[in-house]
Amino acid sequence: MPIRFAEKGDVDVIVKIAESTDYFKHDKVALELIRSTILDLINIEKKDGGVLVYEDNGEMLGFISYRKEKANVGVYWVSWFAVRKDVQRRGIGTLLMQELEKIARAYGARLLLVDTSGDDEWEPARVARRFYEKMGFKRVCVIPRYYWDEDSAVIYVKYLK
Ligand SMILES: CC(C)(COP(=O)(O)OP(=O)(O)OC[C@H]1O[C@@H](n2cnc3c(N)ncnc32)[C@H](O)[C@@H]1OP(=O)(O)O)[C@@H](O)C(=O)NCCC(=O)NCCS
Repeated sequence: MPIRFAEKGDVDVIVKIAESTDYFKHDKVALELIRSTILDLINIEKKDGGVLVYEDNGEMLGFISYRKEKANVGVYWVSWFAVRKDVQRRGIGTLLMQELEKIARAYGARLLLVDTSGDDEWEPARVARRFYEKMGFKRVCVIPRYYWDEDSAVIYVKYLK
C-alpha cells in the first residue's frame, strides 16, 4: 500500500508538494498555514486528525489531511490536500481520498466536509471542485468572503453512511 500516515520529518516535502501546485504556489499564507497545521495534525490522536501521504518507491507524491469536528459527532473535515504537479491526473488524489474515507469511517464518521475556493474565473479552483464532484461530494453552500474579501468558499459534503 503506497499510502501511510505522515511523520514529523515529512513536513518539508509536504509543503514542497503544495508549493508545486497551481492552487497554492502563489499563496504564502496558505503555505505557512500548511506547515504549522500539518505538524499539529501529525501530533494528535488519529481519531482526531491526521495526515496521509502517498509514496512511490520512497518518493512522496501527494498528501491529504483531516480533522474531526469537535463540536459534533461523526463529522470530519478534509483540510489540506495536494498532489505534486507533475504527477497529477494519474489517480493519486482519488486513492488518497478513498483511504481517508476508509479511515474516517473506521473512526465513526457519518460525513465528510470540505471547503474550497468558489472562484469561477480561476482554473485551479475549477479543477478542485471538479475533483470533489467526481468523488461524490455534493455542493451544499457558498460562504462569501470566506478566504479573503474577493474569494468565497464552496462547502461540499459527502455522506459516508
Ligand atoms: C485536486 C488534486 C489533489 C487532484 O489530484 P489528482 O491526483 O490530480 O486527481 P485524480 O487523478 O485522482 O483525478 C480524479 C478526477 O478529478 C478530476 N480532475 C483532476 N484533475 C483535473 C484537471 N486538471 N482537469 C479536470 N478535471 C480534473 C477528474 O474528474 C479526474 O478524473 P478523470 O481523470 O477520470 O477525468 C490535484 O489537482 C491538486 O493537487 N490540485 C492542487 C491542490 C488543490 O486543489 N487542493 C484542494 C484545494 S481545497
